[in-house]
Amino acid sequence: MGETDIRCSNQEWLDGVYEKLLVKMHAECERVGTMIPYSPREGRYHDLDGMGGIHNWTNGFWPGMLWQMYEATGEEAYRRAAEGVEERMDEILEGLEGVDHDAGFLFLLSAVADYRKTGNEKSRQRGIYAANLLAGRFNPVGNFIRAWGDGMTAFFGKGDVSGWMIVDCMMNIPLLYWASRETKDPRFAQIALRHAKTAQQYVVREDGSCNHIVGFNSQTGEFVDNPGGQGYEKGSSWSRGQSWAVFGFALSYRHTGDVSFLNTAKQCAHYCISNMAVNDWLPVVDYRAPEEPLKYDSTAGMITACGLLELAEHVGEHEKRFYTEAAFKILRACDAKFSNWNPEEDSIVDGGTYFYHDPSGENTEVPIIYADYYLIEAVLRLKGKALFTW
Ligand code: GLY
Repeated sequence: MGETDIRCSNQEWLDGVYEKLLVKMHAECERVGTMIPYSPREGRYHDLDGMGGIHNWTNGFWPGMLWQMYEATGEEAYRRAAEGVEERMDEILEGLEGVDHDAGFLFLLSAVADYRKTGNEKSRQRGIYAANLLAGRFNPVGNFIRAWGDGMTAFFGKGDVSGWMIVDCMMNIPLLYWASRETKDPRFAQIALRHAKTAQQYVVREDGSCNHIVGFNSQTGEFVDNPGGQGYEKGSSWSRGQSWAVFGFALSYRHTGDVSFLNTAKQCAHYCISNMAVNDWLPVVDYRAPEEPLKYDSTAGMITACGLLELAEHVGEHEKRFYTEAAFKILRACDAKFSNWNPEEDSIVDGGTYFYHDPSGENTEVPIIYADYYLIEAVLRLKGKALFTW
């Protein structure tokens, strides 16, 4: 059971993890500074080692971790490193076509987090600019934000992808809710709301499982199909997509007050909880894949845990424990199986899988930066020390 004592109380576990986090992140911040890491090799992060270089959708997670640690500790080194990364990320905004639906992941956790924490006006402008780029991807006949660019045709081996929306984007639209509040211009939030309603109708299935991709005719807005995505197959249930739905719909409830989003988040949460509960609270890559080969994706666990903690903030007193206890179960199971708390090595959570079908194996059960971001957010939420970034 690794170094976690399964008999200790949740509070003891939490306090212990928090202490280890302080040591690990202090060391990591000194080594990594303003690099933009994705996944370590031989215990060390390298700069811009994600698939898309400076444009990689994951590049906001390191500054996000730094802002979270700055919020929790007040240590200036975290703030300085986060600001340095944010400046480097201006290169993304300079090349318009490099920004896709993931503008939210990139800029909520960097520039907008900076603005929320420090009030820096330049950061606010970066956030609003990014929100405009995201809003510009809206398809008004289909009421969805277009996913990816034409490059994905090659990746998925499909034809026209101009009418695709994906579940992941539920985590990007909080950038639009934020921009509307900041600019007092409702158009951003109107786009986010319409996208969320479309996702509710076409992404989420009646049993709480989700499609990864929804294909529409981009000219007419008519539904075409649900192509397979990063999960096992068309019609299966990619666990990270499930976790984006839990957290994303809970956030849309937070930002709009539309109770149907809260209920959709719960529906998806109950599906995730039941699937993890029968597997020692560990997330497999796809909840509808064959039992063998057994493949885990720790990132789905960390994101689901954060989504459950978000949900717990919006339910009645007697319902909170259900979501909080499930979050603890997932976090503790993943910590016991996947954590590396050695401060001499970069990255905490191993066992992340980018997509199910990975002949090279290079993206299967490896440490991935966003597992660490969501672990940190979850732990700091539970400690009452988190910066709200969404
Ligand atoms: N947003 C991309 C992924 O979850 O892999």
